[in-house]
Amino acid sequence: MRTILITGGAGFIGSHVVRLFVNKYRDYKIVNLDKLTYAGNLTNLRDIEHKPNYIFEKGDITDSNQIQKLFDKYKFDGVVHLAAESHVDRSISNPMEFIMTNIVGTVNLLNAARSIWKDDFNGKRFYHISTDEVYGSLGEEGKFLETTPYDPRSPYSASKASSDHLVRAYFHTFHLPVVISNCSNNYGPYQFPEKLVPLFIHNIRNNKPLPVYGKGENVRDWLYVEDHAKAIDLIFHNGREGETYNIGGNNEWQNIELIKKLIEIVDRKLGRSEGESLKLITYVKDRAGHDLRYAIDATKIKEELGWEPTVKFTEGFESTVDWYLENEEWLNNVTSGDYIKYYNEQYVKR
Ligand code: NAD
Ligand code: TYD
Repeated sequence: MRTILITGGAGFIGSHVVRLFVNKYRDYKIVNLDKLTYAGNLTNLRDIEHKPNYIFEKGDITDSNQIQKLFDKYKFDGVVHLAAESHVDRSISNPMEFIMTNIVGTVNLLNAARSIWKDDFNGKRFYHISTDEVYGSLGEEGKFLETTPYDPRSPYSASKASSDHLVRAYFHTFHLPVVISNCSNNYGPYQFPEKLVPLFIHNIRNNKPLPVYGKGENVRDWLYVEDHAKAIDLIFHNGREGETYNIGGNNEWQNIELIKKLIEIVDRKLGRSEGESLKLITYVKDRAGHDLRYAIDATKIKEELGWEPTVKFTEGFESTVDWYLENEEWLNNVTSGDYIKYYNEQYVKR
């Protein structure tokens, strides 16, 4: 029996990782630690919450005492660390939350792992989940490699870069058995509707404006979230200690093209005439420090671990739209309260 801590398991990617681990590894005890911020929602895990190998612990990774007690209680064999503040726009309006959770929170987990593992690292692993945004912004050519120098431009990406450096420092200084991955933009069910894909599906459905930042020419590399969860499983079990793996969809889209694709799919599914919702596109003030392009070279994980995206973008996108259209109640539930305040501050003043 291995006891594995997954942090941020009530969030978007974390909930897919918890589901995969709980269903696939019946002989593991999976402990999901989550603060349940606006982005964390236990309804994301309703289908597995009663499984015998699953435990939920509400807690805050910035609280070092609480974290130490949790590690003393469960004596984790492994950590899959996803808990983070994850939205770039929020990091611009409130950087401090990002510094606390993403940097201080990560160091609290590293310290707690060190304290229970001492120097006996046999069978132990600390896996830190990160983002391609740490590498900065690409021009029209090139892709991010694991060796690309870090050049973060937003408080979010700078806080993730900082945590990556600290994880590596604990590997070199204390020999903590770590592994890191940096992934491109994810899409799929259970993503909080402040991010582009779920926000725009929701707004198209409700005939609300689609706020396109700047000229909509920024490029992102999109990966279906379950493919990311599969990569995380592989890296956790088979990735080499101290290594970094880039994960990407090999699927670049300019924002405006992606938005037009979304409009086409949603209009079709709602029985609207073709292009009817194009009128909702509203160009708004650009995001401050908006990175132009992200693209991942995922050769290393393909060659070393045999991972490749399995979900074709057209299928993944269609099924994602279906999921959001069919789960209006989930959306209403997660967007009540604090989110309305954020939405008004973020968009109504633009
Ligand atoms: P998310 O915002 O949907 O979920 C984050 C989760 O962390 C939430 O459940 C939240 O309650 C929890 N959390 C936040 N602060 C906490 C704290 N102080 N203590 C305990 N729990 C806390 O984020 P996501 O999109 O699922 O991203 C998960 C991880 O993957 C993050 O580390 C992010 O940087 C990384 N990542 C995300 C993407 C993406 O496209 N979403 C891409 C690459 C990497
Ligand atoms: P987002 O989903 O916030 O992910 P990230 O910033 O981590 O890439 O945004 C994806 C792209 O969409 C990014 O270039 C910003 C842009 N965007 C808009 O144009 N309008 C919006 O309302 C949002 C949320 C994002």
